[in-house]
Amino acid sequence: MNKKTVSRSLLILAATIIFFASPTINAQTNNWKAPKIADRLKNPLKGDLSAVKKGKELFDINCVTCHGAKGLGDGIAASSLFPKPANLTSKEVQKQSDGAIYYKITKGKNAMISWKYSLSEKQRWQLVSYIRELVPHKAKVKVKKSTAKNVKLKKKTKI
Ligand code: HEC
Repeated sequence: MNKKTVSRSLLILAATIIFFASPTINAQTNNWKAPKIADRLKNPLKGDLSAVKKGKELFDINCVTCHGAKGLGDGIAASSLFPKPANLTSKEVQKQSDGAIYYKITKGKNAMISWKYSLSEKQRWQLVSYIRELVPHKAKVKVKKSTAKNVKLKKKTKI
């Protein structure tokens, strides 16, 4: 390697480090808050058992690699990520409104990509319904069969 190649590779290396390090720096506080307005979004599929089932299917395909089969944030890709994938069963996550969780799935942050374009609105709400059922004490609670089975998603649920 001559001097020019060396300095060029150093430049590429530096650029790569900056590229990968910057989202990490931004995320160090790991204080991801959905805007207040997201709390106003109501899950149009609430109480719909089939939504929970669909949500599980979607979760197993799209989310387990990072969040783990039980949503504990321990998926196979988790160890290589910083910040770590959230533990979706945790109090911090579960205390948030359906709308806030929906917002985060829709928008994404850092390694958590935005699912706005790859999953429909309905699918994202199905995931919210499923995430609610990840909590062990809730797992035993019978979900009532819904009256809201074929609810049309209202415009106001759009973000
Ligand atoms: C590539 C890994 C990855 C995949 C795949 C992934 N996530 Fe995430 N997720 C993350 C990371 C990392 C965070 C934490 C982001 C942060 O705080 O900067 C996160 C955070 C979240 C949060 C916010 C939790 C909180 O702190 O309030 C929700 C909700 C969530 N993910 C749901 C999902 C769902 C649903 C899917 C599947 C559709 C999914 N994630 C797929 C990595 C992933």
